Amino acid sequence: MSFARGLRCLRCGATHPLAWHDRDCPACRAAGAPSALAIDYDPAMLAPRPPAPQGHGLWRHGPLLPVAAGDAVTLGEGGTPLLALPRLAAALGLAALQAKDETRGPTGSFKDRLACVGVSAARVLGAPLVVSSSSGNAGAAAAAYAARAGLPCIVFTFRGASLPLVTQMRALGAKVVYAERSEDRVTLLREGVRRFGWFSTSPFTDPITGSNPFALEGYKTLAYEIAEDLGWEVPDWCVLPVCYGDALASILRGFEDMVALGWTRRVPRLVAAEVSGSLAAALASGADALPVLRRNAPSVATSINAPRGTYQALDALRRSKGRAVPVDDAAMLHWQARLGREEGLWVEPSSAAALAAVAALRADGSMVVTDRVVVLATASGLKDPAAAAATMPEIPVVPTDLDAALAVIAARYG
Ligand SMILES: Cc1ncc(COP(=O)(O)O)c(C=O)c1O
Ligand SMILES: [Zn+2]
Repeated sequence: MSFARGLRCLRCGATHPLAWHDRDCPACRAAGAPSALAIDYDPAMLAPRPPAPQGHGLWRHGPLLPVAAGDAVTLGEGGTPLLALPRLAAALGLAALQAKDETRGPTGSFKDRLACVGVSAARVLGAPLVVSSSSGNAGAAAAAYAARAGLPCIVFTFRGASLPLVTQMRALGAKVVYAERSEDRVTLLREGVRRFGWFSTSPFTDPITGSNPFALEGYKTLAYEIAEDLGWEVPDWCVLPVCYGDALASILRGFEDMVALGWTRRVPRLVAAEVSGSLAAALASGADALPVLRRNAPSVATSINAPRGTYQALDALRRSKGRAVPVDDAAMLHWQARLGREEGLWVEPSSAAALAAVAALRADGSMVVTDRVVVLATASGLKDPAAAAATMPEIPVVPTDLDAALAVIAARYG
């Protein structure tokens, strides 16, 4: 069974029926500070009890999700390892630095958690079709789970999206189409939701406030798994690459659930590693409406390149006494390369934004040597190899003579 009983606005607390899962809060939108609605549960769900999760992976925490485990559309998601990063911890002067390795989800990114719970809800609600306006990981995950559910899936993407990702969506059976302009994708999707009741696993309001509230709950399991792997302790900081803050806002709800359940005693400070600086500006100004901060140049972080943050992310940062850290291309490529070379984990440039933010907070003294830090490794480097490849020198050709070959290897690689 599910304890979901309605929806609640994150900003003003107004409650609405579950059927409003494809809208945001009308009152906050009218007030100029659009805000997402989150699932409101029967308090019985969070009655204190000992941790007794059962089974494997994401649905191990089924009683805390808005869809009953018996209705799950599953590909064996969740249960990803929390990997120690000892060399990078030493380099950054931190007691403990760990990566929650989401690169090994069914489609290679953390979006599998979102799509898994979202498509499960779509099937329960009788939606005719799953849709996503993604250029990347969200579209691939939507395609996989729709295929698994036996539901058709349309992905509106745009020319210029990473070829491996677009191929992944197509291989997983999605009807992939290019919109003429990137910004047209959401317009088309929005109309499909309104006219045909399509279930969208990606956000589509204008301005964007967040993804479908059923789907978002899948990310809470990141928090449960991190705490369980730490012996029901929580890290001092949890650092995420952030676009619309879907995972950031939801992971905090997961940490808060565990405090209510008596499994843990506090929540970590959350950090949003962002490209635009929109969240950092709103934190500094105290406003609830997020500014649009456009970059002049394209970013290597194609997955997190939104010019405006969301209220849900801002709220999560405020509630957890967190920080927003703008990161640039050079820092992301630097930490992507080091994580690969020194710890054996290859992530997307966007994912490396989390480490870039840790380095910045360590450098300005916000993080101290005794802090225990967890970064979310959101997606595999295989998703978007072009940016990393562009930084690599040509591969040398060696003669068929081992001594000569070793000389070439030494000359190039040392
Ligand atoms: C690799 C990667 N990291 C981070 C994000 C940030 O997502 P969110 O909207 O949860 O902030 C995304 C998706 O947008 C992504 O694809
Ligand atoms: Zn509201």
